[in-house]
Amino acid sequence: MRLLVTGGLGFIGSHFIRWALAQDPAVTVVNLDAQTYAGDPANLADVDPARYTWIRGDIRDPEAVARAFAAGVDAVVHCAAESHVDRSLLSAEACLTTNVLGTQVLLDAARTHGVRRFVHVSTDEVYGALAPDEPPATEAHALAPRSPYAASKAAADLLVGAAVATWNLPAVITRGTNTYGPFQHPEKFIPLFITHALEGRDLPLYGDGLQIRDWLHVTDHVAAIWTVLERGRVGAVYNIGARNEQPNRAVAERICALLGVDPARIRSVADRPGHDRRYALDPTRLETELGWRPRVPFAEGLAETVRWYATHRAWWERRRDATFWTYYRQQYGERLRP
Ligand code: DAU
Repeated sequence: MRLLVTGGLGFIGSHFIRWALAQDPAVTVVNLDAQTYAGDPANLADVDPARYTWIRGDIRDPEAVARAFAAGVDAVVHCAAESHVDRSLLSAEACLTTNVLGTQVLLDAARTHGVRRFVHVSTDEVYGALAPDEPPATEAHALAPRSPYAASKAAADLLVGAAVATWNLPAVITRGTNTYGPFQHPEKFIPLFITHALEGRDLPLYGDGLQIRDWLHVTDHVAAIWTVLERGRVGAVYNIGARNEQPNRAVAERICALLGVDPARIRSVADRPGHDRRYALDPTRLETELGWRPRVPFAEGLAETVRWYATHRAWWERRRDATFWTYYRQQYGERLRP
């Protein structure tokens, strides 16, 4: 199977590529990735170059997409996205152009080339915020995104649905919960808190820290994408959730405990505007139809992740270049001690 993976230098994309190559020796991968701030070729330094090609290109550029399809593609796994909510609040443009227009460029190319399968990797954020007493969202939950990032992913999901309806494109959508593990960019909550704790900085907890997320280990997430690629029903949506709802403050305290850091370092800072109070997914469809189950217990996965960041300092220090610190100052401003 010749796979085209988009965004394969990023967190979920790079884990997916490693997973796919390990699952089946007949798989080869073309990775179309523009190498934005969030991507790093080092994430895939260990893969067999005979089975893996990186094409540097942007999904918004039809010529780059055509180059990626040129050698023949059986299936597409579309991971490329601008994925950080805080950045989308500073400027929505990258989300709109990459997540919405870029997805349409890819859908058009997939249609022209007659792919056998198109997996669109989406997010639980398209369902919006859940009330504390609401059951976890099923795939039938209304789309109610509440940030520019989430709205752009919801728009992309609708475009994928339109491609299925109008051209019979054999597409499937996955919606994953908050994902964590090695190689995640240090702007995200868990790596930000681990790296700050390792450096003796304060840990900036938004608002009261009682927002809830359902944390899913990245290997469980990519195993689910692989399962959906192989056996998902065309036109279906599959939620990928771990049934592991945790308040942010509890996650922050676990990180402090794992690193022997004083929890007084956790500082309440101004809340994210429109901060979604709770995400939770019901993954019953994926479990019953396709037999997927999350395997990594949160305590183990978090401890392993903390160890990885503690032993891969060069990796995350490299990700925090001058552009990162410009973003960081815009985002956190005077809220933290240096
Ligand atoms: O739910 C899936 C989504 O999870 C993905 O679609 C997004 O791409 C991914 O970024 C993530 O979105 P969140 O906004 O939930 O993730 P983030 O890591 O930014 O924040 C997780 C929680 O931690 C959220 O409630 C905000 C809070 N937070 C985050 C940061 C960066 C803090 O309290 N302090 C922080 O400095």
